[in-house]
Amino acid sequence: MSRQMIDVRSDTVTKPTPAMLEAMMGAAVGDDVYGEDETVNELQTRAAELFGMQAALYCPTGTMTNQIGIRVHTQPGDEVICHELAHIYVSEGGGIASNSGASVRLMKGNNGRFTADDVRDSVNRRDDSHLPWTRLVAIENTVNKGGGCCWELGEIGRIREVCDEHGLALHLDGARLFNAMTARDESPRQFGRLFDTISVCLSKGLGAPAGSLLLGSRDRIAKAHRYRKAMGGGMRQCGYFAAAGLFALEHHVERLREDHARAKAVESELHSLPYVSSVLPVQTNIVIFNLVESLTADAFLAKLREHHVEAGSTGRHSIRFVFHLDVGDTQVDALTSALRAI
Ligand SMILES: Cc1ncc(COP(=O)(O)O)c(C=O)c1O
Repeated sequence: MSRQMIDVRSDTVTKPTPAMLEAMMGAAVGDDVYGEDETVNELQTRAAELFGMQAALYCPTGTMTNQIGIRVHTQPGDEVICHELAHIYVSEGGGIASNSGASVRLMKGNNGRFTADDVRDSVNRRDDSHLPWTRLVAIENTVNKGGGCCWELGEIGRIREVCDEHGLALHLDGARLFNAMTARDESPRQFGRLFDTISVCLSKGLGAPAGSLLLGSRDRIAKAHRYRKAMGGGMRQCGYFAAAGLFALEHHVERLREDHARAKAVESELHSLPYVSSVLPVQTNIVIFNLVESLTADAFLAKLREHHVEAGSTGRHSIRFVFHLDVGDTQVDALTSALRAI
């Protein structure tokens, strides 16, 4: 890809800033499999405090923190309630089945969000031996395939109540939770109170080159530690990466507002273009829109590439732009000109 390319495929494409790199280079490290990496320990402690949860575990990826989270709560033959758009179901390589041996009950509609009533209607009776035991409800906030939309905290609270009534655990795929909290002025503790486990990524909007944290109770995180090892996720001197995570928590949360504002600006531009048939309402840093029938996503992406823009598709006529650290106002102006020129 040429250097001038504007890359809005994902917020995972960011490169560490010079200040982040400096923080990484200066990190105190040790062997994290022995629990001896000071920087990893500091990051885990900081994150647990931030969310008001007992413990945290640093893992290489969000897929791993989600999959370990699911494994911690389920046994083979159990059932997980999640949305049909959920990353844990669509985009983790069938990991719910292969890592946990669990089945899924899929919720539909509302761009990846569901209600407490949906959950109540989907919990299987335990006295019928035909049925898998419902054990876990998993929510994604923001919803990636839902155009970066956010959940209502009130609805999550009601889902928590249903979980408590039925003895179910509640997991949050918070790969982009900091985007949701920033957009809605919510705090990590509000989420820490509601969930049994939370996965948060440092390598998306926050701009670290790798890393995700699984948060939960001391017992669950002790179990998670074992599953991380079994999945091959025990890293050694990974404090260099953890330092990037600490830096991101310190310096890159507030700036998410800038990504959201840029996404909003592009949303209103899209509404004026003749080849755009609809745009999902933009709430954070993701913009998903549909093209008219006569224009396929592949053809549109090829045209964008001619204008030095690299984007992604989410369907035959559907395009996704994701705004991030490496897309500033200059890039948004160039993207807007490209959209007008097509
Ligand atoms: C909502 C969501 N959850 C989890 C993940 C997994 O993160 P990773 O790529 O670090 O495995 C992603 C990745 O884009 C995501 O969008």
